[in-house]
Amino acid sequence: FETLALSGRTVFITAGPTREALDPVRYISNHSSGKMGYALAEAARDAGARVKLITGPVSIAAPERVECIRVESAQQMLDASLTGLSGCDLFIAAAAVADYRPVSIAEHKIKKGSEEIMELHLVKNPDIVATVAAAEDRPYTVGFAAETRDVVSYAQNKLARKKLDLIVANDVSAPGIGFNSDENAVTLVGPDSIETLPQTHKQQLARQLINRIARHFNEYAKT
Ligand code: PMT
Repeated sequence: FETLALSGRTVFITAGPTREALDPVRYISNHSSGKMGYALAEAARDAGARVKLITGPVSIAAPERVECIRVESAQQMLDASLTGLSGCDLFIAAAAVADYRPVSIAEHKIKKGSEEIMELHLVKNPDIVATVAAAEDRPYTVGFAAETRDVVSYAQNKLARKKLDLIVANDVSAPGIGFNSDENAVTLVGPDSIETLPQTHKQQLARQLINRIARHFNEYAKT
């Protein structure tokens, strides 16, 4: 590491999926394993930061010397992200947040009926990283973009739309990288920079990403 590039800084990282309940026993979710976000938390810790990891339900152990806040839904992830945000210097959103949740949560298990087709009514979830980026006294805010085509141009759109400082473009259609795999390959996109980080283990990639994010952040913090 470039001599503890995040020394004395507080970093919030979101990781894993969210679960959006349908009834007491069912939910809508996705295949995020949390590996990318957890690796970033360890890399940020090793770069000297105080790290708060806000994580959806995953099966990997909490990293040592990292504050770990466990949540289920997008709303809970948002609440945990906004708690103490004024003390946060750098926010990294690696979680795969469900864009929609059921309009209501059934109090009892939904019974199978006679109909062949069942309709679910969904409502948009709050956008956590965009809410953080719009906050007063906002931290330096880094998002991810999980895309299956035109990865860099969609990421550039998200960077602008969500008013982020940097975005990590992730091609989640390629086999062996992205959701739930041990390796990943990304492109780090800024307002006027594009840097490709080739496929490697998520731990290794997280260290490369934290080094680069810290460099951009330290430039920004100087001004
Ligand atoms: O967990 P792993 O198995 O290791 O997989 C890693 C990963 C593929 C999940 C990760 O590298 C990744 O790409 N995370 C972002 C997944 C995603 O949902 O991307 P998106 O393009 O839908 O969202 C864009 C950004 O907005 C992301 O930073 C996301 O965290 C954030 N977001 C999205 C919706 C929402 N309601 N709130 C958010 O904060």
